[in-house]
Amino acid sequence: MSVAYYLGIVALLCLIYVVCYRVFLSPLAKIPGPVITRFTGGWLLYQELTRRRRLYVHELHKRYGPVVRIAPDEVSFATGEAAKQIYSVGGSGFEKTEFYDLFMNFGARNMFSTLTKSEHSERKRRMADRYAKKYVMQSGVLSGIEERARMFVKKVLQECAAQKCVNVYVPLHCYALDGITHHLFHPFGTHAVEDDEDLKMMQELSYHDSLKSRVIQHRYPRLHSLLSNLANPFRATKKPDRASAYVLENCTTAKAAAVADHTVLSKLQARKDTVPILEMASECMDHLVAGIDTTGDGLCFLLWQLSRPESGAIQDKLRAELLRNPATPVDELPYLEAVVKEGLRCYSPIPMSLPRRVPDGGRVLEGYFLPAWTTVSCQAFTLHQLDTEVFPRPGEFIPERWLEQDRREERNKLFFAFASGGRGCIGRNLALMEMKILLKEVYCTYRTTLSPDMTASMEISDQIIASRPKDQVCLLQFQEIA
Ligand code: HEM
Repeated sequence: MSVAYYLGIVALLCLIYVVCYRVFLSPLAKIPGPVITRFTGGWLLYQELTRRRRLYVHELHKRYGPVVRIAPDEVSFATGEAAKQIYSVGGSGFEKTEFYDLFMNFGARNMFSTLTKSEHSERKRRMADRYAKKYVMQSGVLSGIEERARMFVKKVLQECAAQKCVNVYVPLHCYALDGITHHLFHPFGTHAVEDDEDLKMMQELSYHDSLKSRVIQHRYPRLHSLLSNLANPFRATKKPDRASAYVLENCTTAKAAAVADHTVLSKLQARKDTVPILEMASECMDHLVAGIDTTGDGLCFLLWQLSRPESGAIQDKLRAELLRNPATPVDELPYLEAVVKEGLRCYSPIPMSLPRRVPDGGRVLEGYFLPAWTTVSCQAFTLHQLDTEVFPRPGEFIPERWLEQDRREERNKLFFAFASGGRGCIGRNLALMEMKILLKEVYCTYRTTLSPDMTASMEISDQIIASRPKDQVCLLQFQEIA
């Protein structure tokens, strides 16, 4: 008998063992889920590549309940308690997975792509205060956002005058880019709403199609680097040129020392002796990217929803609150808060699974023992819809649900648009202020409706972690209220 024969036998026995382990012996074998997920992660990968992962996982939860095995070593949860255990409790100990390597910039890590808790805390301390609510509410920060919201309205009125309607997707993403760059680099922030060169940066950042390439890059890095030398679609993971050049210029030239005191870069600059310049640039690039599509898409879905015929009464109610309280800070208006929160519940800009790894020794979650290194996650899309006792009529846009006392705590526990815990969204306060200021600027004076030409799909379309309106077009009309 040849060596190859014995090697073949050994390989076969190993394969039989792996299959038996996954199907019968693994502690995960007790967790409900489709049979195929016990054998292979291939089916989940197929769902990812065809942009169906979020809906697939959601359908599995509807069928099997709040705990589902979605791959041999991956489990999805859909309860507030599991979300708390995975993402929040005592710093949780559930570290990020290598999935987040995809979010490095200039070859350097940043806070978002950092995997371990200790490294993350150190990076967060460098500039977390710049995103605290008190900080964002300062006049130097707010006035920049308010000015850009006025520019947004001016721009949409110009377009409506010329063409009867406006594709708000474009100026909303420009507004989000201008808002975050103001916070990072003022006075060197962009003015994409009115400047065509800055507009090109927004287009480069928001109109990419890199999902397949990035999934392959994450799952099969070697194959990805081979393919990227051969085929164009795989080059799509290339970092955006304009934005990279813009960030590098702000971080590495004399501009870095000339940014305003309130900016994130000025805070990072204070550590320039110990923090390498490329790390600062990687951090700023990450915030720029994190701040554009999330806020831009969230606002786009929200304006579209408010402009639909069935939302007429909601617009009236919102306008009445805004006009009754002209001097009240936007973060103290309950109906405005409810509208924004319901928008983020129905159309979370990051609706998909946020993967974490079970720490050494394993953990028990929702009654199931999970061995170390199992990948676990929750997704906002499902947390926001599955429990119909907490969210009755989950598919409908009902801001009033956030004003009810009954089950308030449970609703808030399940609200996951910004994730939660120490690794939840650092830009949350900034994003909320940007959204509220824009809604105030628009709805105090104007009624928005869908343009008769609006045939584009606003279906939620998944990207690598975020989602966006499928056709990236949202045609609205603006009428001044007499
Ligand atoms: C509506 C707008 C936004 C939504 C819905 C949102 C949502 C989220 C979510 C769900 C996470 C956690 C992701 C994960 O664990 O994988 C996150 C993290 C993060 N977000 Fe946002 N985000 C928004 C706006 C912003 C803005 C404006 C910034 C600007 C700085 C920002 C910066 C970040 C950063 C730096 C992290 C990583 C935090 C960490 O690792 O500690 N986000 N965001």
